[in-house]
Amino acid sequence: MNKPEQSTDSHTLTAAGNVSFRNEHPAAGDNREEVLAGLQQAQKVINPKYFYDKKGSQLFDRITRLPEYYPTRTEIEILTRHGQEISEACEKGCLFIEPGSGSCEKARLLLNDLQPSAYVPVDISADFLLQAAIQLGKEYPWLAVRAVCADFNNSWSFVDDLPAGKRVVFYPGSTIGNLEPDNALRFLKRVRAMVGTEGGVLIGVDLHKSSTRLNAAYNDAQGITAEFNRNVLSCLNGLLDAEFDPETFAHHAFYNNEKRRIEMHLVSEKAQTVRCNGSHIEFDEGETIHTENSYKYTLEEFTALAAKAGLRLERSWLDDEELFSVHYLSAT
Ligand code: AVJ
Repeated sequence: MNKPEQSTDSHTLTAAGNVSFRNEHPAAGDNREEVLAGLQQAQKVINPKYFYDKKGSQLFDRITRLPEYYPTRTEIEILTRHGQEISEACEKGCLFIEPGSGSCEKARLLLNDLQPSAYVPVDISADFLLQAAIQLGKEYPWLAVRAVCADFNNSWSFVDDLPAGKRVVFYPGSTIGNLEPDNALRFLKRVRAMVGTEGGVLIGVDLHKSSTRLNAAYNDAQGITAEFNRNVLSCLNGLLDAEFDPETFAHHAFYNNEKRRIEMHLVSEKAQTVRCNGSHIEFDEGETIHTENSYKYTLEEFTALAAKAGLRLERSWLDDEELFSVHYLSAT
């Protein structure tokens, strides 16, 4: 790796000829209060962002390759197959911004067709983002990578030398599915404000479908999803200095057809008291912690949600089985 150079902008490093990195030092945050409050509600609840420690990220990666878990491979297939049309909808030369960019795998599928004026990966994990940005810059020497380490949902700034271009936010993976409809609306409104009236949004959304298919995707035969779910308790043990025994909790995931969401829970298999950050959390036998929602949309429902945020659904691309959707929305 080249030694990063400090630029005139004190937040920004030039990490390579075509790569710069702005670090807004997003607060690690003391989440203890929030997590504990969730565990003290009548229906105990954990924010699904706590799934992703190192082990959790590895487990999620394995989930994406499971035969039952169709979303990741289906979205990749859609982006690959329709890359040219998708790029035309976004418009070549756009400024392509990706919140929660991770390893930038899905953006790679579009960059050659899209030829963006710059690619702006935004992520809260500084080390990971810097490495991913440098790697991407090596693979695409013509590409301006203008990374920002920030919490996308809080205020942050682009690097100073940002190229011009219509702003397009890329939000793949049906990540929006983790949000309750009210919060999904709030998120889309914020995105619309940041892209401006000329901009757009390219977003991947999992579709409503048969409960059988959905239940299988979140109850895989190998039990990886169960392991992923239980691992959140190990994350809490670290975060809260708690003493959860993951082995005493069972994975329970089901499609709530009325609310159009997969619900994941951890079911306490016995009555127990868990020491947790100086407090004690009591469980009845069979009581659950609600660990995740994964909302699914019909095309009509998603179109209506986007419209409420001031985003017009211009085009949708689906796989042949109509399992997953990628939409281009324009700020109206
Ligand atoms: C990363 C939120 C899109 O909801 O399908 C996969 C997470 N949870 N299996 C999803 C997840 C259980 C995933 N998202």
